[in-house]
Amino acid sequence: MNYRHDYHAGNFADVLKHLALCELLRLLTAKDKKLFVLDTHAGAGGYDLGGSRSTRTGEAEAGIARLAAAPRAGMPAAVSRYLAAVAAYDRKFGPPGGDGPRRYPGSPRLIRAALRPGDRFIACELHPDDALALKREFAGDRAVEVRQADGYQVQKAMLPPSERRGLVLIDPPFEAADEFERLSRALRQGLRRFATGCYAVWYPIKDETAVADFLDKLAAFRLLTMTLRLDKALDADKLGTCGLVVINPPWRFEEAMAEALPWVAAVLGGKSSVAATPASAPAPVSPP
Ligand SMILES: C[S@@+](CC[C@H](N)C(=O)[O-])C[C@H]1O[C@@H](n2cnc3c(N)ncnc32)[C@H](O)[C@@H]1O
Repeated sequence: MNYRHDYHAGNFADVLKHLALCELLRLLTAKDKKLFVLDTHAGAGGYDLGGSRSTRTGEAEAGIARLAAAPRAGMPAAVSRYLAAVAAYDRKFGPPGGDGPRRYPGSPRLIRAALRPGDRFIACELHPDDALALKREFAGDRAVEVRQADGYQVQKAMLPPSERRGLVLIDPPFEAADEFERLSRALRQGLRRFATGCYAVWYPIKDETAVADFLDKLAAFRLLTMTLRLDKALDADKLGTCGLVVINPPWRFEEAMAEALPWVAAVLGGKSSVAATPASAPAPVSPP
């Protein structure tokens, strides 16, 4: 396990994933019913964008820093909400002053900020250093259960949740050559146990055939697939395109992402796509 997210925190891939995550959480917590959230690959929880790992890659500069510096005029509501969540975390845990975010919230922090009393959250992280950092991040916080464990195994054990409403975020590092197969297996298992759950899965787009095969295996489900591509990747060996697929997306999620993503892509210098399968039903024609 060599992958460490602090080299990449706040990059364009985090922007896509975390923007969507904030929106999913907003929509799923709108109903007055308890929610279970599982973050299978949680990372360290929070990241110092001024630290040596982050500044060495410069990925956050081309991601969250650029977005946070964008003019607010015409900014889609979902982007404003995501930036507000980032700023709130930075204000609370980052160093004072500076322009642009310095401490960046990972997925567990964004999830924690959206939880209501009575919601349940389990965050899994396998790397011992990041699991320790994650435990420290939430020390004394009884709303968050941190497990140093294989997120796929925990998913198997925890689904279906007693709440009957849940969000599962699966964000693997894609170090293993068979990660897409592991993902497909985990999703098939998860959906068998908890068919109505909402699952959000992030993936890199390097090998288009592997991605198409992966998405084909999900064709029986209701999906929203999103991609974000930078026109110029930072380096030839750096990831420049990624995707996020949401299974059983909540009502209005597609609309929010279809408004937000092209705007984000324009600010970051890239292209985006949002596609629903099966294609969304046409809006009902209003009576004459
Ligand atoms: C892309 S990072 C997660 C970033 C985090 N989800 C976020 O958005 O802030 C992937 C993480 O998964 C961890 N990891 C790798 N294999 C794992 C496994 N089988 N179960 C749980 N965590 C794993 C890695 O150590 C790494 O910290």
